[in-house]
Amino acid sequence: MEYSEFFKSIMSIMPTASLLVDKSRTIKDCNDGVKNVFGYTCEEIVGKKTELLYGDRRVNKSDRAELYNRLARDGYHIGSARGTRKDGRNMPLDLYTFIIKEDSGALVLIKEAQKLPAEIDTARLLQDLLDTIPDMIYFKDTKNRFIMVNKAHADALGLRFEEIIGKTDLDLFPKELADRYFADDNIILRTGKPVLDKIESAPRPDGGITYVSTTKVPRFDKDGSIVGTIGITRNVTERVTAEEELRVYKERLEELVKDRTRQLEEQREKLLRMYNLKSEFTSMVSHELRTPLAVIKDGVSVVSEGSAGELNDQQKNFLGMALANIDRLSRLINDVLDLSKLETKKMEFRIVKGNLNELIDDVLKSYEHILKKKGLRLHKKLDPFLPLVRLDPDRITQVFYNLMTNAVKFTDEGFIGVESKTLKGRVTISVEDTGQGMRKEDLYRIFEKFEQIAPADRAKAPGTGLGLAICKQIIEQLGGRIWVESEFGKGSKFFFSLPIKELI
Ligand SMILES: Nc1ncnc2c1ncn2[C@@H]1O[C@H](COP(=O)(O)OP(=O)(O)OP(=O)(O)O)[C@@H](O)[C@H]1O
Ligand SMILES: [Mg+2]
Repeated sequence: MEYSEFFKSIMSIMPTASLLVDKSRTIKDCNDGVKNVFGYTCEEIVGKKTELLYGDRRVNKSDRAELYNRLARDGYHIGSARGTRKDGRNMPLDLYTFIIKEDSGALVLIKEAQKLPAEIDTARLLQDLLDTIPDMIYFKDTKNRFIMVNKAHADALGLRFEEIIGKTDLDLFPKELADRYFADDNIILRTGKPVLDKIESAPRPDGGITYVSTTKVPRFDKDGSIVGTIGITRNVTERVTAEEELRVYKERLEELVKDRTRQLEEQREKLLRMYNLKSEFTSMVSHELRTPLAVIKDGVSVVSEGSAGELNDQQKNFLGMALANIDRLSRLINDVLDLSKLETKKMEFRIVKGNLNELIDDVLKSYEHILKKKGLRLHKKLDPFLPLVRLDPDRITQVFYNLMTNAVKFTDEGFIGVESKTLKGRVTISVEDTGQGMRKEDLYRIFEKFEQIAPADRAKAPGTGLGLAICKQIIEQLGGRIWVESEFGKGSKFFFSLPIKELI
């Protein structure tokens, strides 16, 4: 039997893929095993080069040396190579090559190399890992075909793995959506730049909208060429919906606040208008009352002095009472007029550099008589080096006068103390008494207009409760402060201060 015939018969009984090749690596013959290993029939490969089935091992110099040395020495060679099946799949091969001496060809027995168990595990493990991740993960090739998807992705599409692999977005999504995905993928493939955390929306069959956040990155092979895109898509519908609700809620709240602010603003303006109207009315009425009251006072005075004829005691008495009430009424009118001018900032101040001690001394002169009458001592302690301050003499006199009147009015025994001093850049005046004093809880309201602590006791302490309100307005409009310290049953001490630095 010829050598080649011998080998042919061996080949036909071999379970592995077997080839007879000549020196130029052209396939001369083969057995049925090639169908199992490579997917080709024998007819399809006879006459073709072995490169169709596996790489040319002579390309690598060291492989080539080893192969030829072995063949020359032993007549056979056992080695490995990467093979390619008809369907394109790659696989590792074990190759057993025997030299057929006569025609210098060779018999090559080929079987798929046993995969390492560890290799299988890693691949399975990877897929298992990906399948347990709730995000949708996929890999697409450069033609945007799905090469790999995880379970979450398949579930989201409602398809089986086999129904997705090899498909493109166009096969799986509505065109408009697929075009968008395609555009993104193509940019990544072209530029190599990733798309990070891009929020996209898509309508759901139930009418709602699903929001997803997608991150796509290019995948490179070991040479640095882009071989596809890896994508991770996360369903963020809940988060986006919650954020949207929060935004709408916030907008509504802002709207509400704006609305309320506008209403309050309107109300405030209305109140201000009413307040001004009331002040103008009060001021107008008071003003109009002053002239006729002056005429009445003149008339009554003339009559009571007896210039218009002799009066008996009873008549004198009545006219005396009338005069006292005319005085009270004109004081009240003046106070109301002053306060309304002060409140509407229409009071005109006549500002000069003034010495407070002089003003105090002037006012105190007019109290000598009443103090003596009530048996009250005067303790006066005026700082002789008191600096001049910016003041309106008439208005400051009015303030000091009211403090003194109050002190005398609410004190039955003891003393009235008047002091002036410089303190922390201010000139401070105090009026102290040993009178009835006030409770802590009443102090906050005495500077408000018409506030009197015991207005029922009018006979003993007549007044309207405007005095301190006027004092507060005057002092504050001059840049000063007014306050009180008091102990119920023991006495009170009123203070007012004016800044020194604001000299003209
Ligand atoms: N020295 C004081 N001792 C005790 N209570 C005082 C003293 N000064 C003021 N008050 C209390 O504060 C209230 C308000 O004083 P204010 O000077 O504003 O009004 P009035 O003296 O009652 O009236 P008006 O000054 O308008 O004639 C007084 O009614 C009184 O209850
Ligand atoms: Mg008073």
